[in-house]
Amino acid sequence: MTKLILVAGARPNFMKIAPLMHALKDHPNIRPVLVHTGQHYDVKMSGQFFDELNIPAPDINLEVGSASHAVQTARIMEGFEKVCLDEKPDAVLVVGDVNSTAACTLVASKMGIKTIHYEAGLRSHDRNMPEEINRLVTDAISDVFITTSADADENLLKENIPAEKIHMLGNLMIDSLVEQLPKAGNTDLKFDLLNRQAGIEIGNDFREKEYGVMTFHRPGNVDDRENLAGLVKIWGKISERVPLVFPVHPRTYKNIQRFDLQKAIDAFPHLYFIEPLGYLQFIHLVSRSLFTLTDSGGIQEETTYLGIPCLTVRPTTERPVTIWEGSNSLINVQEIEPEVNRILSGKGKKGNVPKYWDGKTAERIVQMLMKEI
Ligand code: UD1
Repeated sequence: MTKLILVAGARPNFMKIAPLMHALKDHPNIRPVLVHTGQHYDVKMSGQFFDELNIPAPDINLEVGSASHAVQTARIMEGFEKVCLDEKPDAVLVVGDVNSTAACTLVASKMGIKTIHYEAGLRSHDRNMPEEINRLVTDAISDVFITTSADADENLLKENIPAEKIHMLGNLMIDSLVEQLPKAGNTDLKFDLLNRQAGIEIGNDFREKEYGVMTFHRPGNVDDRENLAGLVKIWGKISERVPLVFPVHPRTYKNIQRFDLQKAIDAFPHLYFIEPLGYLQFIHLVSRSLFTLTDSGGIQEETTYLGIPCLTVRPTTERPVTIWEGSNSLINVQEIEPEVNRILSGKGKKGNVPKYWDGKTAERIVQMLMKEI
């Protein structure tokens, strides 16, 4: 029996880990051990995703919590080294690009344990993003590389990774989406509003395809007062034409309070700020929206699968396939209004679904793992 540690740390990891855990359940040859680093810890950022995605409770939780990058990474490394010493795994599989991804790869690699990176090779070429540093570090020392698109293979080849170590097997996030969409369709779309007495209900207060969904949490957009205040003005202006629903990430919420922007937001009655949502309600909300306005990574992929126009407010993306093939567009802050107007006039981008984004990636990965570990 091969022992495989799977690492999950932050919200975007959970929908990638879920299909793998399902595919490895009762597997005759591979025994999975799930380690949660505790990088995200709130019920709304973590526990709810385990419940809804049917992920078994982690075998080990390092409970590192929030801290500066250095402190958080160090805490994960310290805890994970102990786990590897106790568990003596044959291999460690990490996903995505968060601090937990890089920290656990560093530990396992130095202990001579085979490391496998799912979502390898994505590059924004923007080292101001902490995730780009995590991607570069992880891919520099991993042993097996699982990619979601052909551009990622090309990036790895350019970095002198041998072709036989690279496996383009598709997108685990789409596995979760395909599996959960029917269940998501049964969730209500009724939400309490943050800082307001009222609530909203999609289908009642406004109809399907007559609202946009926003998510913003990148430090580049929300950690600077001027940038965030500028965004609030634009969101407000857009909300006068089309209602905007925003499940607010804790980083963004804290900054809104710190920069005293709540009043500016409350001036716009159709700018609806709500608590972070669980997976099912979130994909239900997105699947019925007219468009999304975001700085997230994963949402670029989910909207590509759903064929919903996605406006990504970032200078770069590590997921260019969502632009070449999918419904995503990369825009700057000045372009938000004209691009939303284009969508409102019926000219939103639709696109196609990239190769292997078909709901069967976990199966392909398990087949590959049987040969590689
Ligand atoms: C992290 C990831 C980012 C990912 C994002 C998704 C890194 C470097 N960043 O950024 O790639 O897109 O998660 O959410 O790994 N907080 C809570 N509850 C929680 C977790 C965090 O309130 O469960 C608060 C923290 O106290 C902090 C803020 O949210 O003030 C930001 O959290 P942090 O983990 O530092 O980074 P994220 O922005 O979430």
